[in-house]
Amino acid sequence: MPKDANDKTGPNHVAIIMDGNGRWATQRGRPRLFGHHAGARRVREIVRACPDEGVKYLTIFAFSTENWKRTQTEVAGLMALFRRYIEREAKALFDEGVRVRFIGDRMKLDDKLVSLMDNLELYTSGNDKVHLTIALNYGGRDEVTRAAQRLAFEVEKGTLTHKDVDAETLSKFLDTHVLPDPDLVIRTSGEARISNFLLWQSAYAEYEFVDTLWPDFSAAEFASVLSNYGGRERRFGAVLA
Ligand code: FPP
Repeated sequence: MPKDANDKTGPNHVAIIMDGNGRWATQRGRPRLFGHHAGARRVREIVRACPDEGVKYLTIFAFSTENWKRTQTEVAGLMALFRRYIEREAKALFDEGVRVRFIGDRMKLDDKLVSLMDNLELYTSGNDKVHLTIALNYGGRDEVTRAAQRLAFEVEKGTLTHKDVDAETLSKFLDTHVLPDPDLVIRTSGEARISNFLLWQSAYAEYEFVDTLWPDFSAAEFASVLSNYGGRERRFGAVLA
C-alpha cells in the first residue's frame, strides 16, 4: 500500500553517520579524541530521545572498515572509548529498555572489546523499547561480501542452490538480518556522502545532511530533523495515483 501523502508518522528506523568530531575538537585547539568523547555524550542524549520521538530503531556508525587508516593513537583511543562506553553505559541502557546490537566484522577487534560487545548484546536481549545498533568495524561492501561468502558456502555444502539466491535470501545473511531497513539516514557535519554505510539497506531511505558537527547535534535538532521526514512522500519506486 502506498503511504498516504498526508501521513505524518515519523521514521521507525533512523540511521546516523556521526561525523565532525575531529573538526569540533580542532576548532577548540584540542586533540581529536576530545571530540570523540564529546560525541559519545551525544550518543547517550540521542538514544534517550528516541522513545519520545517514536524512533524504535537507531543505528549509528561508530567505526568504519576504513577508519583503521587513522593514526594509531586515534584508533587506540577510539577502541578504548568503545570499551569504556560499554562498561559505563550498560546498566543505564538496560534500565532504559534499550536492546543493543553490534554490526560489522568482529574478527579484527580485540578480544576484550568483543567480549564486552557479546555480553552487552546478551544482557539487553530481553529489551524492546529502543533497538540500538552500533556499527563497529562496519563497511557496507564488506558486509555484502561476507554475506556472499556465507551464501557461497551454503551452496558449496548443498544446503542452497544458485537458484535460491535472491534479494530476500541474501538479506538473511547480512549483519542486519533482524532489523527493518532504515527509513531515514542522517549525516552530520555538512558532508553529503554515504561513506559505505548500510548500502544495501538504505536503497529506499530518505537522507538528511545537516551542517552541525556531531558533538553539537542535540536532541532538539534531532527532533527538528525528524519533523521534516513526516512531510515527505515515499514511493518505493512506484507511482502514486
Ligand atoms: C567521525 O568524525 C566520527 C567517528 C569516526 C567516530 C564516531 C564515534 C563516536 C561518536 C564516539 C562514540 C561512539 C560510541 C558508540 C560510544 P571524524 O573524526 O571523521 O570527524 P572529522 O570529519 O571532523 O575529522
